[in-house]
Amino acid sequence: MKVLVIGGGGREHAVVQALKRSADTSVYAVMGRKNPGISRVAEKIHLCNETDKEEIARFACTEGVDYAVVGPEAPLEAGVVDHLEDRGIGCVGPFRASARLETDKGFCRMLMDQHGIAGCPLYRVFYRAGDAIDFINGHVGDLAIKPIGLTGGKGVRIMGEQVDRAGAISYVRELGGNVILEERMIGEEFTLQAFVDGQHLVPMPLVQDHKRAYTGDIGPNTGGMGSYTMPDHMLPFVPAPDYEKALAIMKDAVSAMKRLGQPYRGILYGQFMNTATGPMVVEFNARFGDPEAMNVLSILSSDMGEVVASIVDGTLSSSRVTFEPLATVCKYLVPEGYPEKPEAGARISVGDPGNALLYYANVDERDGSLYTQTSRTLAFVGIGETLPEAEAMAEKAASKVTGKVRYRSDIGTDALLQRRIDHMKEIR
Ligand code: GLY
Repeated sequence: MKVLVIGGGGREHAVVQALKRSADTSVYAVMGRKNPGISRVAEKIHLCNETDKEEIARFACTEGVDYAVVGPEAPLEAGVVDHLEDRGIGCVGPFRASARLETDKGFCRMLMDQHGIAGCPLYRVFYRAGDAIDFINGHVGDLAIKPIGLTGGKGVRIMGEQVDRAGAISYVRELGGNVILEERMIGEEFTLQAFVDGQHLVPMPLVQDHKRAYTGDIGPNTGGMGSYTMPDHMLPFVPAPDYEKALAIMKDAVSAMKRLGQPYRGILYGQFMNTATGPMVVEFNARFGDPEAMNVLSILSSDMGEVVASIVDGTLSSSRVTFEPLATVCKYLVPEGYPEKPEAGARISVGDPGNALLYYANVDERDGSLYTQTSRTLAFVGIGETLPEAEAMAEKAASKVTGKVRYRSDIGTDALLQRRIDHMKEIR
């Protein structure tokens, strides 16, 4: 069968590699910029805007693809899935209306509220700056300020930590007043991703991503600097009862979408905060996480092509989706200055990655050399029987890259993991 992958980042490279391991699957790809890794293994690539639904559908129909997997959120919001489905191409990715779980944070919270879904923080939705500012002026304590629409994972500001009241007000103005103000959640974040076919949901291993730019969890927020999973697919600061609660929240969201008449199909990504009282939903995303996709898809032991077909056919079942009982550590290399003043156009060299997997992201390949662009450059995934083994593999590969890039050397280390565990003990 022929599968089209939409998107050209590290996440999509991981999707393509997983599909390449499938029997009888040929991979086609559409992306805004040429990803060197994807272009090496795909049957054919097409460069165009990833939200250009006409152009994507034209390429898909010309090549006769059977299925499409949508990587980023922007094509979902643009209705690429609706357009492809109209042409008989089954998609792993929700229709535009269902993608609102991610693209409209007001919709997401109201769905949780109206359907009694657990894990919803106190929130208020605003569409006028003046109203949000009045609320902020009358509020005592911390607040999370979130844009209602898409943010590329970088849009939350915490009043009381990152910004003061004046900073919060100017951020609300910057966002044109379309914001959600939420109670601040304290705890440890984790990601639970799941395959969903409209009715059935099959979870993937738990992952922890690292949003802050610099080692030690400091600096500005990024799209994610790296992530890890454990051999038992759990995280030591997420006890089994908390995991079960998070999973139930995801299943309840899928049931609610079905009751609304907008069944959710694709990848559901739950960003949770494990708080003193259990998991709370930070947000839902309508796609794989980036970098989290690289962790889980690197150890997917079932046939990804079959998983794709079962999502589209509505026959997804946990017996058809298995992952190796191994740890993974993903380390992203980013241009110096990222995210605020990324140095684009710098030549880099990848040394011997050893056994680590290399996923290309926002990087140019010209005349056999690699050059940074403005976003995350490339990532290494180490895989091992234990977390230290996986970490050592990713670290060794990352340390061999030369040029104006950097990465977080603490991701996946025992010391960092212990800090997470200690933090959970402290708040409980
Ligand atoms: N890793 C964060 C995201 O994909 O949204």
